[in-house]
Amino acid sequence: MGSIKIKADDEIEKLRVAGKITAAVLAELAGTARAGMTTAELDALGERLIRAQGAEPVFLGYRGYRHATCISVNHEVVHGIPGERRLAEGDLVSIDVGVKKDGYCGDSALTVPIGQISGRAAKLLRTARQALQAGIKQARAGRHLGDIGAAVQQTAEKQGFSVVRDLYGHGIGRELHEDPLIPNYGRPGEGPELKAGMVLAIEPMLNVGGWRIRTLPDGWTVVTEDGSLSCHIEHTVLVTERDPEILTKW
Ligand code: MF3
Ligand code: CO
Repeated sequence: MGSIKIKADDEIEKLRVAGKITAAVLAELAGTARAGMTTAELDALGERLIRAQGAEPVFLGYRGYRHATCISVNHEVVHGIPGERRLAEGDLVSIDVGVKKDGYCGDSALTVPIGQISGRAAKLLRTARQALQAGIKQARAGRHLGDIGAAVQQTAEKQGFSVVRDLYGHGIGRELHEDPLIPNYGRPGEGPELKAGMVLAIEPMLNVGGWRIRTLPDGWTVVTEDGSLSCHIEHTVLVTERDPEILTKW
């Protein structure tokens, strides 16, 4: 693993702009998602909204990925490919958006319920939000990377859910994925020390069942191995000496 970049003030300003665009697009998509819509329609809207802000969809073309967003439904964990699938009442839908503006990236995901969801799904969603917030709270100068993962893991497991082990959050800046990898598990005090100016994409993935995942033959869609429900939420966060600054606040 290389070194974790400390962003300069002018870079942070650009990351704030990219983060704001990311958040605005996600909020609009979350408000639009409803039963009967296809995930491709949602993606097309996402791409239009990103471009309307003078930004680029940073996922498009990333390792050959052909869409602006990832949309992962129910037992799909992440990297669901938008297509002709229609959203239905009771679905739990993760929408993941990445943009590049002025050379800097924003990356964020949220999970939206379609209509009435089961009590189990609602608890998973609530816990995933709490786990993300608990992780973000640790993103301060002087803490360690392991503090973030430990907070996420404890929050999830206390409620009986598991955290995915094989996918990670990441540093972010000029590139969508920069050092470090950010596991959603770990032990307090472990790993590199966090410093003001680091920008981290923290993205817990919680499963109702076991933590194991597999990738479908399409090469992208990651699903839970046991078919259980999954939930994914992500923010791009600036580490400071004081409270963390959520750059993608929706
Ligand atoms: N948001 C995802 C991440 O943080 C990126 C999706 S992969 C892509 O890793 F190909 F769609 F870009
Ligand atoms: Co990410």
